[in-house]
Order: sequence, then C-alpha cells, then structure tokens
Amino acid sequence: MEYQAVSTRYDHMKYVRCGNSGLKLPGISLGLWHNFGDVDCFHQARRIVRRAFDLGITHFDLANNYGPSPGSAEENFGKIIDKDFRSYRDELIISTKAGYYMWPGPYGEWGSKKYLSASLDQSLKRLGLEYVDIFYSHRFDPDTPLEETMEALAMAVKQGKALYAGISNYPSEATEKAYDILRSMGVRCLIHQVKYSMLFREPENSLFDILNRLQMGCIVFSPLAQGLLTDRYLKGIPRGSRASKSHGFLKREEITGDMIHKIIQLNQMAGKRGQTLAQMALTWVLRKSEVTSALIGSSSVRQLEDNVACIRHKGFTETEIKKIDSILQ
Ligand SMILES: NC(=O)c1ccc[n+]([C@@H]2O[C@H](COP(=O)([O-])OP(=O)(O)OC[C@H]3O[C@@H](n4cnc5c(N)ncnc54)[C@H](OP(=O)(O)O)[C@@H]3O)[C@@H](O)[C@H]2O)c1
Repeated sequence: MEYQAVSTRYDHMKYVRCGNSGLKLPGISLGLWHNFGDVDCFHQARRIVRRAFDLGITHFDLANNYGPSPGSAEENFGKIIDKDFRSYRDELIISTKAGYYMWPGPYGEWGSKKYLSASLDQSLKRLGLEYVDIFYSHRFDPDTPLEETMEALAMAVKQGKALYAGISNYPSEATEKAYDILRSMGVRCLIHQVKYSMLFREPENSLFDILNRLQMGCIVFSPLAQGLLTDRYLKGIPRGSRASKSHGFLKREEITGDMIHKIIQLNQMAGKRGQTLAQMALTWVLRKSEVTSALIGSSSVRQLEDNVACIRHKGFTETEIKKIDSILQ
C-alpha cells in the first residue's frame, strides 16, 4: 500500500544540533546493522522504517557490510526508499560507512583511499542514491597514513557523494588528528560514532572531553548493549532474539548469571521511575551533553515505539545516578 507519512511526525521527537554544525539529528536514530538483511523479513523491515519516520526519526544508519549477506541491508533500504521515501529524501539523513571487510584482496577493507572510494560508489548503487548525508571511516587503520583516509572522506564530500564526513571507533588521539587533518582540507569532521551504554563506558575516560572541546557531534551505538539492557533476556534467551541467532553479534556467553542479576536490579529501578529498562538505558546515554543521538536497533515496531518514548522522560537525580553506578559495579 502506498505510504504517506503522518503529518504529526515532528511533534514529539527532539532534534539536537550535531556539535557546532548546522545539522540537527533526532535524539533517537535507527541503525540497520541487524534485522534488515536478506535473512530477515523485508515487510517487517519496511514496517519498522515507516513507523520510525512517522515517529520523527529522520536519521537512518547503514554500513557497506550490514546484512547478512554483506550489502543486503543497503539493498533493502534502497528498495524501501524507492517504494516509500522518494518524495521524502530531503527530510532524511542517511549514513553509510566503509572500514571492515567487504571484498577479497588488498583493497576490500581498512582505510586506503582506493577502498573507501570504491566502497562508497558501491553503497550509492545499492542504496539507489546520488549522495549519502554522512560517510564514515568505520574504523581507524593503524597501517594507513591518516592523511590518506581523511583525503578519501574529503574527496567524497568535494565530489558531492557525501554531504558530511564522520569517523567511527577511532581512539581519542586519532580523533583529534583526524579532525585537524580534515579541517586543513576544508572539511568538517561532523561526528564520531562510538559504542556507549551503561555496560560500556569507555568514552567517559577521555573521548567525550575531546569531542566537547572540538565541538564535534557524537552518536552512540548499541546503547541497549544489543538488547541486554532491556527485558529481552530476563527469562532466558527467547527464540528469534539476537543472542539466539547464529549470525547475531550478541553471544550467549555474554548473558551470565551475574549480568542478569544486574539487569534485574536495573529493571526494578526503571519500573520505579515509570519507565521500561530500554527507556531508562536510553535516557541514561542521552544525559551526557556530548551525545547528540542514541543509535538504536529494533526488530519490531513495538520495540521501536518503546524506545522512542524515552524522549518524554525526565533525567536522573544524583542519587539515581549513584544507584545505577553501584548496581553496575
Ligand atoms: N560503528 C560501528 O562500529 C557500529 C557497531 C555496532 C552498531 N552500530 C550501529 O548502531 C546501531 C544499533 O546497534 P544495536 O542494534 O547493537 O543497538 P541496540 O539498540 O543496543 O540493540 C538493538 C537490539 O536490542 C533489542 N531491543 C531493542 N529495543 C528493545 C526493546 N524496547 N525491548 C526489548 N528489546 C529491545 C533488539 O534485539 P532483538 O533483535 O533480540 O529483538 C534489537 O535488535 C546499528 O544498527 C548500527 O547502525 C555501529
């Protein structure tokens, strides 16, 4: 059936300026790492993307290798754009990345200009787009001069194949260098995509301070720790969950008794705050002023709706923050 976005789609979402750029991102963005490949149900994927846009999610995040099979998430998203979103292209921020293994031989991964440039062309073809909004270097490559990787990003921007450049998973020191190099090329490093959640707090060590100083945007991935920070695993490992799938990146071994003990306590605390645990985990990452957007995944419309509702919840008291810290210790 023909899709028409609801007219109330911008009424409830918060839009946050990405660093000191002109671009605003929704507080919640949707990533297509899992649940959008050719092993997944296309109709379900399409329903999730439509509902996301109706809820005010304007930002959709991809990478060359998302699937499985690698590339199929971009192909499926390209089909969804074609069927439903052609007339909404100017309301969407679509990102993709290159850095991890994509094809055999010396030019199919890491950070060379050869790889990044070829990969972006392939992504645009799969997506059926003339440009993406953000193109990322997906990981820092210790063996390629940083100047070369940044030159590839700058070239993509100057060619009009990407509007903005971003980096992902870069260590703190390389982040500052990447920012300076891009700046010397006349291109802003718009955003850093980093892993951050109650269960993974490394960016608090030094990266957030650097992003703050550089006034760079920050989008945090796996804020629900791939589903651990929800009620998903409170009664075992359900069929169809990420941990139950052979291609899922969440491993059964990560769901230990000690982990579940913590999750139960967090779940009780969320209940007292009038939130689901997923909502509390999202409110928690969004409490940091450095965080522009929380980049979630969802395997159903119900999960998506649950997550987006975090936007209307209040922040934490000092006592609540301390309680969360003590549960996690
Ligand atoms: N730059 C990078 O290197 C990198 C790495 C990883 C991810 N990312 C990006 O970040 C995005 C999000 O990552 P992620 O999928 O790991 O994020 P996440 O939000 O931490 O985990 C998403 C998973 O949690 C479960 N879930 C979500 N909402 C739920 C709810 N309300 N109740 C119960 N369960 C819920 C679902 O698992 P089930 O499938 O079991 O239902 C869902 O697939 C990716 O799609 C990708 O765009 C980037």
